[in-house]
Amino acid sequence: MTTERTQVGIVGAGPAGLLLSHLLALRGVDSVLVENRSRAYCEARQRAGLLEDGTVKLLRATGLGARLDREGLEHGGIYLQFAGERHHLDFLGLTGGRAVTIYAQTEIVKDLIEARTAAGAALHFEVTGTEVADLDTDRPVLRYTDAGGHRHQVVCDAIAGCDGFHGACRPAMPDGLLQVVERSYPFGWLGILAEVPPSTDELIYCRHPNGFALHSMRSPQVSRLYLQVPADEDIDEWPDDRIWAELSTRFAVPGWELKQGPVTEKSVTPMRSFVAAPMRAGRLFLAGDAAHIVPPTGAKGLNLAVADVTVLADALTELARGRGTAAADAYSDACLERVWRASHFSWWMTTMLHVAGDAMDEQLMQSQLRYVTTSRAAATSLAENYVGYPPLKSHFI
Ligand code: DHB
Repeated sequence: MTTERTQVGIVGAGPAGLLLSHLLALRGVDSVLVENRSRAYCEARQRAGLLEDGTVKLLRATGLGARLDREGLEHGGIYLQFAGERHHLDFLGLTGGRAVTIYAQTEIVKDLIEARTAAGAALHFEVTGTEVADLDTDRPVLRYTDAGGHRHQVVCDAIAGCDGFHGACRPAMPDGLLQVVERSYPFGWLGILAEVPPSTDELIYCRHPNGFALHSMRSPQVSRLYLQVPADEDIDEWPDDRIWAELSTRFAVPGWELKQGPVTEKSVTPMRSFVAAPMRAGRLFLAGDAAHIVPPTGAKGLNLAVADVTVLADALTELARGRGTAAADAYSDACLERVWRASHFSWWMTTMLHVAGDAMDEQLMQSQLRYVTTSRAAATSLAENYVGYPPLKSHFI
């Protein structure tokens, strides 16, 4: 076994882990990042694609804006559709000029891996046997076996668990510490990527008697569409023709047509709300999906991960410079405030737009939708949460 030394050990090469290693490097703090998947797998996995304005500003301010600015699609609002009518919400007007940007998570991961690799960072893919230990000391240890079969031990000042919901870091927290609050929903999303120009200029969130549908996009040539389906739905029940027919039914409004094209990706995602607190034990800090999951309606997951590591980069910089633990001590509470705001918003958007309950639920949700599409106060509340609340603050922006 080889013993090495770094300031921050990072588990996971998703957006949280990669962005954390980038932000730390900009502040002169070194890190070692390990990931059990291959680089190709990390760069190909299809996830969300909607960035809050604070996320965009942070990426730009930290040198990650070049391709995002060329290829990202800025959206100043969304459409909400229900009872067969489509209504526009103007976020720019409602929030004093804040917008969101369509740019896929997988593209951010590619940009980050390229930037970190160019900077000579220690990124180790395809590792096995990842372990974190000595978390209650000020020299926690990260152990892993590299792709060549060699075992390593990295002595750190702190370890960041950015290894997602199924990762090894949350289970490594001391027994009895974590308070978990969770809910699963009786439905999931069937998502497709299709090679067809989007049929809309901005996203359409649609409530229909058959269930929710969302028209999103990835580029002027590629559409991303979702359908509410039962949580345990078998994807084989959904040949492409059936998907297009159901999307056309749910999105139907007079004078508008859904363009169809070849489906290049298809998957069913279950939906849950999950928060584990605190997000820190000793020198182990959880960030992103390792600590919390939101249902996807409103696209908060990636933005929450970015917000977590923005706070964490500051806290770990203080720790690594020997400037005390005040920021580290404040980390969990600071993140959880935003996590709960986003958890509420995601739950609210989900319940308002999905069909699951009885006739009472149907009437209540339609009333809520009429309210947000007619009252400026209600629309402003949706808009400020959607573009990101509270607005992201950091050392960099
Ligand atoms: C996308 C996903 C979401 O959950 C959402 O609310 C908006 C867009 C997307 O994948 O494009």
